[in-house]
Amino acid sequence: MITVLGATGNTGGRIVERLRAAGEPVRAVGRDAGRLARAAGLGAQPHVGDAGDPAFLRRAFENADAAYVLMPMDVMTSGYAAQQATVGESITEALRSSGVPYVVALSSLGAEVPGGPNLDATGFMGTLHEQEQRLATLDTNLVLLRPGLFLESFLHGVDAMRAHGTHADSIDPDVALPMVATRDVGDVAADLLRRRSWSGTVVREVLGAADLTVGEAVAVLGPALGMPGLSYVRIPDDEMEALLRGAGMPDDAARLHVAMNRAFNDGTVASLAGRGPGNTTPTTVEEWARTLSGALR
Ligand SMILES: NC(=O)c1ccc[n+]([C@@H]2O[C@H](COP(=O)([O-])OP(=O)(O)OC[C@H]3O[C@@H](n4cnc5c(N)ncnc54)[C@H](OP(=O)(O)O)[C@@H]3O)[C@@H](O)[C@H]2O)c1
Repeated sequence: MITVLGATGNTGGRIVERLRAAGEPVRAVGRDAGRLARAAGLGAQPHVGDAGDPAFLRRAFENADAAYVLMPMDVMTSGYAAQQATVGESITEALRSSGVPYVVALSSLGAEVPGGPNLDATGFMGTLHEQEQRLATLDTNLVLLRPGLFLESFLHGVDAMRAHGTHADSIDPDVALPMVATRDVGDVAADLLRRRSWSGTVVREVLGAADLTVGEAVAVLGPALGMPGLSYVRIPDDEMEALLRGAGMPDDAARLHVAMNRAFNDGTVASLAGRGPGNTTPTTVEEWARTLSGALR
């Protein structure tokens, strides 16, 4: 049995698909039975509850041979750091008490860097650093999966792109980042969960097909969304923070977004291994853009 957290999400959804296609028994975890219907339709056992509840998670992990865990994040509710700590502690305690022998944990590039006061060093990645530290206290075989920037993260900005004809952010235009389609992250994780062939703690970066500037990604995304003229505008950090707050994002999350971008800009968040065949994955931005549904058009 393999337990998959976030089974209705980007990476977890892909993992459920891949594991079920291979005939693996899967327990699919999420908060809503309706949203888990797709996983159930693939033959996974739906397991409905909140990851902040360690007793619920303990049952989700019971007798599992392996588990995929991630830190669900909701940047539109305030108290990001406290929410992440609650979920992170819950996941760690449930893994400890259930004794799952193989764990693949979704983290991020930059998670080796301590977040520092107010998580200023790397923004959102600071809580993933804390989670890596918690998970390291477990007596289990652990893969810390550290992907680059998800291509899917651009989709949060589609409404604003349509309204303004541009994509605005505070990443420097000449900074090329590893960008990865979440299907590649899911495929790497599913393969690890099936094979269970490592021991101890292993870090595995997942860098996508190429390093891209935001402008290069937007130049592919625009036409796929029916906006051939879409361009990237780098706006000052304080303007970006104000823009996010204006769109309803709480102060702390807006500040963490800009701090994360600063860490991209100055190289604090980067691949430690360097790009190579072991961390490059197949899906190019062009292939990813072709898979975007007509619904986004
Ligand atoms: N965006 C990036 O560029 C990037 C890069 C590197 C790493 N990451 C990390 O990737 C992670 C997100 O992964 P993802 O994109 O695969 O997830 P996602 O698509 O955002 O989906 C989140 C999943 O978690 C579930 N969930 C949310 N809150 C929950 C709760 N309280 N209890 C139980 N389940 C809950 C959701 O299901 P329901 O809503 O159905 O319950 C959903 O299945 C984050 O930890 C982020 O830091 C992101």
